[in-house]
Amino acid sequence: MTDALHTEHFWMPFTANRQFKSRPRMLVSASGMYYTTDDGRKILDGTAGLWCVNAGHAHPKIVQAIQQQAATMDYAPVFQMGHPKVFEAASALVSIAPEGLNRVFFCNDGSEGVDTALKIALAYHQVRGNGIRTRLIGRERAYHGVGFGGVAVGGIAGNRKHFGPTLAGVDHMRHPLDIARNAFSRGLPEHGAELADQFEQRLIALHDPATVAAVIVEPIQGSTGVILPPKGYLQKLRAICDRHGILLIFDEVITGFGRLGAPFAADFFGIVPDMVVCAKGLTNAAVPMGAVIVRQEIHDTFMNNAPENTIEFFHGYTYSGHPLASAAMIATMDVYKSEGLFDRAAASTSHFEEAVHSLKGLPYVKDVRNLGLICGIELESVPGKPTARAFDVFLKCFWDKNVLIRTTGDIIALSPPLIIDKTQIDQLFSAIADVLKTQKAVPETETASA
Ligand SMILES: Cc1ncc(COP(=O)(O)O)c(C=O)c1O
Repeated sequence: MTDALHTEHFWMPFTANRQFKSRPRMLVSASGMYYTTDDGRKILDGTAGLWCVNAGHAHPKIVQAIQQQAATMDYAPVFQMGHPKVFEAASALVSIAPEGLNRVFFCNDGSEGVDTALKIALAYHQVRGNGIRTRLIGRERAYHGVGFGGVAVGGIAGNRKHFGPTLAGVDHMRHPLDIARNAFSRGLPEHGAELADQFEQRLIALHDPATVAAVIVEPIQGSTGVILPPKGYLQKLRAICDRHGILLIFDEVITGFGRLGAPFAADFFGIVPDMVVCAKGLTNAAVPMGAVIVRQEIHDTFMNNAPENTIEFFHGYTYSGHPLASAAMIATMDVYKSEGLFDRAAASTSHFEEAVHSLKGLPYVKDVRNLGLICGIELESVPGKPTARAFDVFLKCFWDKNVLIRTTGDIIALSPPLIIDKTQIDQLFSAIADVLKTQKAVPETETASA
């Protein structure tokens, strides 16, 4: 079957293309917690696709909403025009957004969301007559998508090194992963809140706080291997930003929509950022969509400072608030609410945590860390062959155990749909445990993962 597909034509993103094409891993359908492969196997989805199918695959209400919308109106512009679904969608999102965040700018994915938020931050200060605030601060090991803005504030060398200097005026805080002090933490790590103070004492002081427009952080750094904020760290960041008039942006592309058992990580941590970037679970990934939710005062600053009948913010995408995405999003919000999926995720976290930590002591397990329905399992790297061990586990889970996991470097990162039940949690972790128990010092598969 796969030969007939001519796999050579598709240049695959964030993939070891040659390795994949030597033995393609093809998913052909999906329902609930499972994918089905082209050879008819049911694969348990331990990653909600890419941290995005929070309500499980092919939810009938979401499918129906998309089908109906496609038949009613395929597309309408939102530049100087409108359609009811996009306004309804914005209100639906605000109904679960952190308090005070009540204006929504739509885009198509997380990368566009990040670039949009950075632009809003820069323009906001300028519109207020504070054009000196142009500096943006991100973190080491942050992933904020692949736009030039997101790559600049992101902290992953591989995502930056080929693309020149990207944005000027960006600096980075240290990431808070500290295995030496926090290994095998359950929930939030104890040590490291002082890194927020260092940020104030060193970076902000170095640049002068009056030049910093915004700080952007993922409440949990997901893509680089589940780096959790130490206790009190995010609260300190909020206070520091407040002290210096700096906007705080939470990139909640993976933490939004119930991943921690609350609508957003902002709710979980009890912090209100100035902007939240979201995508992925926004439409249960059924149609691409991203959004930036902003404080009303930020939005009103644009409205109140532009002359009448002029465009207040020069930014937008052809597909901002696309009718199909809007319909999918409204249905998704309804599913989250009517099925109580955030509470369901919260109720599953203790069983999930036990299962994660049952891996402690297995061969090559260096650390496990978890919060909500997210965990990272960090493995000892094969000397001189970073990524080889985790990628080997990934392949064996897929081919031999019918389980989909995700790896980054030598870290396994799991984020199942919120509907996962106890039996499926046990299946997921016993598959990983079985594979780890048979790990060789140097695995046969030595191809790099993304
Ligand atoms: C925190 C974060 N921000 C931004 C993005 C980029 O989102 P997208 O791939 O939809 O552009 C991701 C993707 O994983 C992410 O995890």
